[in-house]
Amino acid sequence: MALRVVLALLLLVVAVAHAHHPTPQAVLRDPNPSGVIATVSTGGAIDPENPFFQSVGSNGRRCGSCHDPAEGWTITPGGARARFDASGGLDPLFRFNDGAVSPRADVSTVEARRSAYRLLLERGLIRVGLPVPVDAEFSLDAVDDPYGYATARELSVFRRPLPTTNLRFVTSIMWDGREPALGTQADGAARDHALSLRALTADERAKIVSLESGLYTAQISDNTAGVLDADGARGGPGPLIDQPFHPGINSGATADRAVFTLFAPWANARGRLAPSRQAIARGEAIFNHRAFRPRGVSCSTCHDAPNAGSNSSGAFVSLGLSDAGLRTPDLPVYTLRCAGTGGVMRTTDPGRALVTGRCEDVGRFKVPALRGLAARAPYFHNGSAETLEDVVEFYDRRFSIGLTGAERADLIAFLRAL
Ligand code: HEC
Ligand code: HEC
Repeated sequence: MALRVVLALLLLVVAVAHAHHPTPQAVLRDPNPSGVIATVSTGGAIDPENPFFQSVGSNGRRCGSCHDPAEGWTITPGGARARFDASGGLDPLFRFNDGAVSPRADVSTVEARRSAYRLLLERGLIRVGLPVPVDAEFSLDAVDDPYGYATARELSVFRRPLPTTNLRFVTSIMWDGREPALGTQADGAARDHALSLRALTADERAKIVSLESGLYTAQISDNTAGVLDADGARGGPGPLIDQPFHPGINSGATADRAVFTLFAPWANARGRLAPSRQAIARGEAIFNHRAFRPRGVSCSTCHDAPNAGSNSSGAFVSLGLSDAGLRTPDLPVYTLRCAGTGGVMRTTDPGRALVTGRCEDVGRFKVPALRGLAARAPYFHNGSAETLEDVVEFYDRRFSIGLTGAERADLIAFLRAL
């Protein structure tokens, strides 16, 4: 519903823009808790008739059901709750196959639905059903699934929808990199999320991929620092269009740790907004350069794609977020045994290992891009960090960085401005 309003407004904006200054770019703006996020489209006006925004299967689902421009092209728990309340849990977002904790969950009454869809309502999580690969180095020794569904044929892993924007900077598609291309991804999404009974037509697939590929999204205005592309700064989505990128652009011997260069001009900001702007500039420098163990790693070592924050060479990394030790009781835990070593691992989501079948890939996920963060809490593949404060707190503990209170505040101000 929110989407429809946004699209109507967009058409208006586009109409006005065309009337006054002809421009190939459409601009969408949506408020979020720390300011306003904006999306530009290099493909011209964002067409609400594009199959991305149409029902593409048998259960009423659209790509837009889980990738809402107003929520950073993903969904947030707040957005999900609003849709639940407005529809009694019948909005197409709420479908048992992957919206519920198990496809067998009771969804017959509003209260049953509130319980069945609780991971979606509380953490914005979608159930992804994936098998243990046939030639895996590990076997599934035990399943502890509070919902009594998961087996080796179909593990239930609960993941945040990734944003369908800024995709030019994405070198591996999906948290575990299992899709080789946006076209196959769209086919899979129509089949698995929308339960499509037929394949997308070549035309539908091309239109979806073309729409997604032309989108650039970033925070454009901050409640305390003002417009993020003012006074020499290069925040907002516009500069992303011309941001150089190719796989491996910032890896190897020539890698530059100054990955983000958007807010350096604000280091000496003056005037009323100076304190907030200087904090963002300091946060950017911390992100780029503040070294922590092991071996002088900084945030920008992994998040190395210039001004985007994804990993330019498509690395998969474990931060230990799916280790059983961090499990909340509402997530399944899987016990994996490695045939070679006999070693046992317990995890809520094997991540990359469900694609490669390799023990060393258990718990590894891709390094996501970091723009438009303010619009799309919670963070990490499993939504375990409710806020950006929680993200920074997690890293500070995980890597024993030893950030001071002031450094944390600066880093958070920077992340909010992305
Ligand atoms: C039910 C919710 C839902 C629907 C509907 C949905 N997606 Fe997604 N989408 C997700 C989830 C969850 C992920 C992450 C899955 C994973 O990594 O295992 C995702 C990931 C993606 C990604 C990967 C982005 C990246 O950075 O790797 C793209 C692209 C995408 N979706 C496009 C689409 C398209 C196109 C459609 C419609 C054909 C669609 N989605 C429908 C939930 C949804
Ligand atoms: C060792 C590599 C590595 C380092 C160093 C690193 N990150 Fe990450 N970052 C990742 C990976 C991998 C993920 C996804 C992890 C997951 O969800 O399991 C991630 C996720 C995130 C997210 C969540 C994005 C989203 O869409 O959910 C934020 C925000 C973030 N990192 C910020 C930072 C900051 C700030 C630092 C420095 C304090 C940092 N990262 C250091 C690898 C790294």
